[in-house]
Amino acid sequence: MDQIEIFAPASVANVSCGFDVLGFCLEPIGDIMRVTKTESPGVTIGSITGQELPTDPLKNVASVAVLSLLKTFKSSYGFRIDIDKKIKPGSGIGSSAASAAGAVFAVNHLLGAPYSRKELIQFAMAGEVLASGAKHADNLAPVLLGGFTLVRSNKSLDVIKLPSPPDLVATIIHPKIELKTIHSRAILKQTVPLEKAVEQWGNLGAFVSALYTNDYELLSRSMKDKIIEPFRAMLIPKFEEVKAAAINTGALGSGISGSGPSIYALSKGMKTAIEVGNAMKTQFDDLDIEYEVHVSKINEEGIKIINSL
Ligand code: HSE
Repeated sequence: MDQIEIFAPASVANVSCGFDVLGFCLEPIGDIMRVTKTESPGVTIGSITGQELPTDPLKNVASVAVLSLLKTFKSSYGFRIDIDKKIKPGSGIGSSAASAAGAVFAVNHLLGAPYSRKELIQFAMAGEVLASGAKHADNLAPVLLGGFTLVRSNKSLDVIKLPSPPDLVATIIHPKIELKTIHSRAILKQTVPLEKAVEQWGNLGAFVSALYTNDYELLSRSMKDKIIEPFRAMLIPKFEEVKAAAINTGALGSGISGSGPSIYALSKGMKTAIEVGNAMKTQFDDLDIEYEVHVSKINEEGIKIINSL
């Protein structure tokens, strides 16, 4: 195989109760990446369409992730990466994770798949660190493994794939303003009051249990975040109104997608998820901000191969 074309999907991290550890994979939005073997070793960025991103291999998250893989797995040939970037950087739906995970997934295939999808997270992490300045795999894990994932440890990368209740549908509204993860992390407090920590781990445990038992009511009660959301909500126009509109329309819960500015909701059934999207839109219609709405089933597959030669 000399060339591979893949779809690297967007994802929602944190899911309110699981800052830096919980995430799920989306279906309709993602980047198209083509990776081609080259005679000269190393990594180059060929073309990037859709967004303005660095082509210097030491500054682009896709090539930085591949360089990390090639430090461990020596290759006599190199790789050129072409990206059709559909996920806007700074959107809160895992733009850097899609690039980093997509690139290592494609290169791994061209190398004869020496690593499992789970093992690739460690290499993709180099890209995520470049983008956000922190080691967190809560977007990378669902992009590579599909579905919902829990990162028990971001240090040792102990990652668990979780089940998805069959009727769960996500709605995302993406106001087109850029919020860099590195900045929305910088405003967070480094300590958490015990009372809030107790509440959060209660909710996270309950959320995971609800995924296993298809308990939509419990899922709804668990989608709370008293630790991170109050700080980041200030950075997102009309966050409280959009969230309230989603919940009043029947969403199980709603919160900030990753580090924002996108806002996500989870609903039972496609019909409710579409209505939730319409309710979210009405909140943004009187603001002078462009936005996009996506309605998505939980993507159980994660990254997928489109073509290979
Ligand atoms: N867990 C990360 C954060 C996700 O909230 O900062 C953003 O990439």
